[in-house]
Amino acid sequence: MDKIRIRGGRPLEGRIAISGAKNAALPLLAASLLTDQPLVLRNLPHLADIATMTHLLAQHGTELSMAGEHPGGGHMGQVMELRTRDLTSTEAPYDIVRKMRASVLVLGPLLARCGRARVSLPGGCAIGTRPVDMHIQGLEVLGAEIELDDGYIVARAPGGLRGGVVVFPRVSVGATENLLMAATLAKGEVILENAAREPEVADLANCLNAMGAKIEGIGGDTLHIQGVEALHGADYAVLPDRIEAATYAIAAAITGGRVELIGARPATMEAVSAALGQANVLLRPTDGGMMVECGLVGGGGGGDGRGDGNGVKSIDISTAPYPGFPTDLQAQMMALMTVADGAAMITETIFENRFQHVPELLRMGADIKVKGATAMVRGRGGNGGAGLHGAPVMATDLRASVSLVLAGLAASGETVVNRVYHLDRGYERLEEKLSGCGADITRLTE
Ligand code: EPZ
Repeated sequence: MDKIRIRGGRPLEGRIAISGAKNAALPLLAASLLTDQPLVLRNLPHLADIATMTHLLAQHGTELSMAGEHPGGGHMGQVMELRTRDLTSTEAPYDIVRKMRASVLVLGPLLARCGRARVSLPGGCAIGTRPVDMHIQGLEVLGAEIELDDGYIVARAPGGLRGGVVVFPRVSVGATENLLMAATLAKGEVILENAAREPEVADLANCLNAMGAKIEGIGGDTLHIQGVEALHGADYAVLPDRIEAATYAIAAAITGGRVELIGARPATMEAVSAALGQANVLLRPTDGGMMVECGLVGGGGGGDGRGDGNGVKSIDISTAPYPGFPTDLQAQMMALMTVADGAAMITETIFENRFQHVPELLRMGADIKVKGATAMVRGRGGNGGAGLHGAPVMATDLRASVSLVLAGLAASGETVVNRVYHLDRGYERLEEKLSGCGADITRLTE
């Protein structure tokens, strides 16, 4: 199993090209099942999860061809053509779905395309039980007959899906995406209320409209979809990854550096920019994306800012659905707060077990106390200025593992992050991008 070794204490300086968004690419790939025409997707990131999804699609009968590299905003995203002339299987098997929960996003397209699907229940993961009850209930409103059998969702809609009003009891990105895709071929109008407003959902809706769907209200919490007979192909570029961009913004901040994020879209990062701004980390739009740097060192001393946490201020954070502060950035923000100048209260409202990074950060000398869904983080000023020290740590999920890398960049000494396959699911060429800005980071292949 690969490991990543980081020797901390070096401010990052330079430019990082932001890749296409994993959480937009995955539903966009699933959308290729909705038509027998070719769908060309550009700026796809090179990630393990993308490979898993294409493997799943291939066993449904999708023909895939790489159409070269697409120079977009400095990031060499891959270009892929997908065509599902006929579905050779309507089953998404457990051994694929258990590796990647987003596989459940083939459920809506399969049902819409051919009226049946047998998709393994994804099961839980490190951050929570992550049920799919809202996906199922929503599809039943559109006329699907669904039962659970041997750990599989067995769904049928022999006469096709019908119009209806789906009200989500809580905001769900995946349920919104599954229902959105299913609704494009329904017989009648579908209204999705309390829909997720994440930019990745809007990206999917825009691509579906380019394929001939009739979706209105994109970006809002109520989506109106007028079903059509069939969808055609399209040529669509995946939007840049706002979570990756924000992760590298925090990498710049935690090392007291200055980094330009090439291709980042400020409009999708407003809550993050506001929070980091309060923490004295400035994100400024540039022609190519966004510049990130720490504000002037506050309080006494001045100097290089290393002594008092790079001038980063402690702030309270509570995660929320978009446009609120993203849960996918909670672990990274916590790493930053461990070197800030005071005490920060971090509340996780989306997932029930998303503090897996805490025990590992404690091993690095952080001062964090968890009580229920809230973590109190005392920064460098709060733990007597000891700051973080390197240690061998264990990755548990995608965002927890990257928070350990961020902590390692700031820590004195050497940090080795184990189980980096978690990282490879969501961060393309992470060690290359960071070492390109001066980080001492190496992948150790065993
Ligand atoms: C998507 O997961 C993202 N994954 C997650 O990113 C992200 O954390 C999450 O949205 C929230 O923004 C992809 O887009 C591939 P949800 P998803 O449905 O769709 C509960 C990452 O690190 N819920 O919005 O699975 C659920 O348990 C990943 O890139 C139900 O109860 O998230 C959670 O508590 C991690 N019933 C909350 O809703 C349902 O039917 C939000 O989940 C569906 C969800």
